[in-house]
Amino acid sequence: VKDGNGIKGLVDSGIVEVPEIFIQPLDERIEKVDEKGSKEHFLTVPIDLSKLDGPDHDQVVNDIVTAAKTLGFFQAINHGMSLDLLESLKDAAHQFFAQPPEAKAVYLKGVSRSPLVKYATSFTAEKDKALEWRDYVSMLYTHDGDALEHWPKECKEVALDYMKLSAKMIRRLVEILIRNLGVNLEDSRLEALIGLKIVNMNYYPTCPNPELTVGAGRHSDTSTITMLLQDDIGGLQVRVEEDIVAGRKEEWIEIPPIPGALVVNLGDVLQILSNGRYKSGEHRVRTTSKQSRVSIPAFCSPRPTEKIGPLPQQVELDGGPLYREVIFQDYMTHFLGNAHEGKNCLDFVK
Ligand code: SIN
Ligand code: FE2
Repeated sequence: VKDGNGIKGLVDSGIVEVPEIFIQPLDERIEKVDEKGSKEHFLTVPIDLSKLDGPDHDQVVNDIVTAAKTLGFFQAINHGMSLDLLESLKDAAHQFFAQPPEAKAVYLKGVSRSPLVKYATSFTAEKDKALEWRDYVSMLYTHDGDALEHWPKECKEVALDYMKLSAKMIRRLVEILIRNLGVNLEDSRLEALIGLKIVNMNYYPTCPNPELTVGAGRHSDTSTITMLLQDDIGGLQVRVEEDIVAGRKEEWIEIPPIPGALVVNLGDVLQILSNGRYKSGEHRVRTTSKQSRVSIPAFCSPRPTEKIGPLPQQVELDGGPLYREVIFQDYMTHFLGNAHEGKNCLDFVK
């Protein structure tokens, strides 16, 4: 894994059983999915963002806010990105990971020529009890010139287009969510809350033992908001809290792939800013033995020096803060330095 082979290398070598280090504790394993259960849910009906500019504006805002207060997840169509671009992104991800190990090894931690690009396997590999069944490459955005110089050539152009074209939509969504709290943030603060931009490409190779492994362990994103392109394989799941859907126990539901749609999920920062009014969605990814899967998230987070805490107006309304204020960098450091277990990173600010 340390030599650029990644999990893909393991699979390509023909293993028929996963090595022990990938076997999840019992309570983290993922049962076979009940597709019927997920079909009836509102996640299967994407929100049409183009309707924000028409007579249905209020209804669309209402749908976005409802999703933010319950699951922290929704799917969006007419988001401003062409189907061609989305296809090219998935192709680029496959191209990157299909390269020989040496070509990817140049981006390994401690080797990478650029601090902007990191290729790795699993997540906090040093901390987690069992490793995730995933390889990924992470690309930090500073400015266009840097991206074109340092990001991997297989994907830099499309990844940059994706990031830039999504920025407008992301900004608009965050603005809508904050305004719905009765708060009008200045443009500069809004920009600062989504000023740190990272595009990842995830590759989940086929797995001989899907019942023992996870592609991504359950977590919420530390971001303000995340946009994700998934291919048509499926496997992304979100947790429904017991008290949200009346009469139902805690459960995980699949976020079904919808051609042309993007998945939007709120990160911890919006949960903190809203003093818990909005939820960062807890999610995970199962593995499959049938086909490899790619996904491409774009994370928009606060600038590292930005102070994050419940918005004063919200605190006043609620009679007190649920979270303390932190510098975003400290929140990230905490997240990266600990095994991720659901939404436990939020405990850091309680
Ligand atoms: C993640 O949230 O870590 C990945 C989501 C996905 O691959 O669908
Ligand atoms: Fe995530």
